[in-house]
Amino acid sequence: MSVQSQIRRKTAPEIRARKGGDPIVMLTSYHAHTASLVDRYCDVILVGDSLGNVMHGFETTVPVTLEMMILQGHAVMRGSQHALVVVDMPFGSYEASKEQAFHSAARILKETHCGAVKLEGGVRMAETIAFLTERGIPVMGHIGLTPQSINTLGTFRAQGREEGSWEPIEADARAVADAGAFSVVVEAVAEPLGRKITEAIPIPTIGIGASAACDGQVLVLEDMLGLSPRVPKFVKRFGNLGPGIEEAIKGYAEEVRSRAFPGPEHVYGMKSKV
Ligand code: KIV
Repeated sequence: MSVQSQIRRKTAPEIRARKGGDPIVMLTSYHAHTASLVDRYCDVILVGDSLGNVMHGFETTVPVTLEMMILQGHAVMRGSQHALVVVDMPFGSYEASKEQAFHSAARILKETHCGAVKLEGGVRMAETIAFLTERGIPVMGHIGLTPQSINTLGTFRAQGREEGSWEPIEADARAVADAGAFSVVVEAVAEPLGRKITEAIPIPTIGIGASAACDGQVLVLEDMLGLSPRVPKFVKRFGNLGPGIEEAIKGYAEEVRSRAFPGPEHVYGMKSKV
């Protein structure tokens, strides 16, 4: 077999093997330029369907399409070299049947060249996860708060905070692991539940609003950079870029209006005749 590429990316089996080891670092990215920055420090880049909120201003992730995910997935693959790129399967592209899921996931892999897909749901999606993984598609699960179910959930609320409410979420974690997922995102669950699930299942858990005990953590890049206007409790802002970007845009607008920009150094003179 001839090898075409010098790029050595992390693989789903390598991430799977990190269970109980060094924490897995994961962030979202939807663009080539941010992907190249994230790629320097992260093990996994998630092309999340949160791009519906961040890039398109949707209230939920429900309107996101397969085409949007493929377009941005391709951009992130072009911008990155080392991280495993995981592309979210959007609402409506996998729930109808395992065959529908295979068709959509195969399109994502073929058209973006990413290394894995992520889909939401535990017990109810276990058969589909097994179908995909048996056919060569690495799957990252996503349990706890599953934002694509917002219309049946009613609100974005942390899960497993009431006495006696843990069993269905633990069953979801077991089902996803037994079905062959290589890792699972655990979103917005009570901290002791996130810890218990991490101890109980053999695949890495990637927490977002779950527990520091998880095998890894993920955040939406724009949330942790301070670019998102509203963020959930579980987001720590590692930067505050919003005001800086506004300041830059204000400065640009002022200089265009006063004709200070472009200056002589930003325009082209005539070439001298020889
Ligand atoms: O779409 C997304 O960004 C996600 C993360 C919040 C895990 O699924």
